[in-house]
Amino acid sequence: MKIPSRALAGAGALILALQVHAADGQKIYSQGGANPAALACVTCHGANGEGMAAGGFPRLAGLSAAYMRKQLEDIRSGARSAPVMQPLAAALTDEEIAAVTEILAALPAVDVPLVTRVEKADDLGAQLALRGAWARNIPECVSCHGPSGIGVGDAFPALAGQPAQYIAGQLQAWRQGTRKNDPNDLMGHVARGLTDAEVQAVSEYFANLSQP
Ligand code: HEC
Ligand code: HEC
Repeated sequence: MKIPSRALAGAGALILALQVHAADGQKIYSQGGANPAALACVTCHGANGEGMAAGGFPRLAGLSAAYMRKQLEDIRSGARSAPVMQPLAAALTDEEIAAVTEILAALPAVDVPLVTRVEKADDLGAQLALRGAWARNIPECVSCHGPSGIGVGDAFPALAGQPAQYIAGQLQAWRQGTRKNDPNDLMGHVARGLTDAEVQAVSEYFANLSQP
């Protein structure tokens, strides 16, 4: 049987397009986008997308590509105020965002043990994470963010592996109304119900899960 040459040419072009796509994501991550304002991600998000605890820069490796695309769109639109990331997100094209989030999503997610028990009754962070504060209508974080905060699907991001400073910063942003990009105010409701001490404790709880 003879395969029409037009079909072959089409398949060749598709393979080429996929290769270019994959190569671009890596290049954007390590060298930046076509617009010089789209700085290289590696500088802040780490050599392997692991984030940088000291700067409060989030881990990106293993997050859902759709979640990251949504965040970059929300940061561009201002639904999520992020002064450092905003000019960068605005300088990336939709194509570049698709390529770079795809390679990041394919990197390994953080490795965490499965924790289901509160070992010490006075561990405020573990209590909130695993039991919630139902007297104040605050569900346990793991009910949405998955066991040990490993994340669920495209809507609920991983908390395990994120720096404590980053988690606390996001909770404060919801309390102050500078991040208002969550469906049905799910996180706004949770964050506004927490005290400062609880924000600190639960942030450290999830950050420390991935420490050996
Ligand atoms: C100058 C440092 C810096 C650079 C460079 C940088 N980022 Fe960021 N990024 C941040 C900070 C800070 C945040 C957290 C913003 C906030 O406070 O909400 C962030 C957040 C993000 C988030 C949201 C993560 C989440 O868990 O919600 C994504 C996605 C992201 N960056 C992707 C990228 C990509 C892709 C690049 C490269 C094109 C990049 N960043 C370059 C500093 C940087
Ligand atoms: C009812 C479901 C629900 C519960 C319970 C919940 N969250 Fe969330 N959380 C979400 C959703 C949805 C998002 C993503 C919002 C968006 O699209 O940006 C989110 C995002 C986050 C983020 C941002 C992560 C990032 O990468 O930027 C943090 C931090 C967070 N939640 C912390 C917590 C903590 C701590 C608790 C427990 C005290 C908790 N959440 C409980 C639904 C929930």
